Amino acid sequence: MIFDTHTHYDDEQFDDDRDALLCSLAEQGVGAVANMGASMRGARDSVELAKKYPFVYAAVGIHPDHAKELNEEEFEVLKVLAAEEKVVAIGEIGLDYYWDSTEREDQKYWFKRQLALAQELKLPVVIHSRDAAADTLEIMKEAYQQSGKKLTGVIHCFSYETEMAREYVKMGFYLGVGGVATFKNGRKLKEVIEDTPIERIVLETDCPYLAPVPFRGKRNSSQLLSYVVAAIAELKGISEEEVERITWENACNLYRLTL
Ligand code: NI
Repeated sequence: MIFDTHTHYDDEQFDDDRDALLCSLAEQGVGAVANMGASMRGARDSVELAKKYPFVYAAVGIHPDHAKELNEEEFEVLKVLAAEEKVVAIGEIGLDYYWDSTEREDQKYWFKRQLALAQELKLPVVIHSRDAAADTLEIMKEAYQQSGKKLTGVIHCFSYETEMAREYVKMGFYLGVGGVATFKNGRKLKEVIEDTPIERIVLETDCPYLAPVPFRGKRNSSQLLSYVVAAIAELKGISEEEVERITWENACNLYRLTL
């Protein structure tokens, strides 16, 4: 069975067939999904999806692109959502210096606040970090040093070098691997996959984005994770069944679920 650790099924691209698609996942070998909050609306919708479908879990958090939506009042709402049953993580949160949709200082401020919230609630974090490797790592290390409370979680859509991957693995983090593992220009990620113990890798789509080859550019969904499983199996020299079994266990450990 496949555990898709990072989805956006609340996205409008699923408006026409969301229910049919989600209900067909089990027969496609997908046993569980974790839907991410990215905006306040997305956080609310993720909780709703988790209430509706037994195999859907939710993360609530504000993506750096939407961090400008945050203020103290909204942050209180986020806290309430985070306490909902089936909320398994704070995410996705982090820094994005590629799009820079929110002022960097504001990105950093709300990233720190959401890390502290995760520590307070003892929830893992789902980290989004793009073109911001040094600041992300520094802020995460600071969050640990200042509070003494350990951070756990996943670096979603891991896009940095092997050296940085080792750093996060040392901190006890998982690396999220998706469609990019099948891309012709995905050499950097392939090296990371080869170098990282399979026990530290989790599967993710980030759907509707980042569909694997041969569907690159199309709408992604958890059904297409089998292509990512095949790519990882080949790189690690193990069977696809093993990739599914081990990454399932990893995902359950990440989100502290017994499934
Ligand atoms: Ni995402």
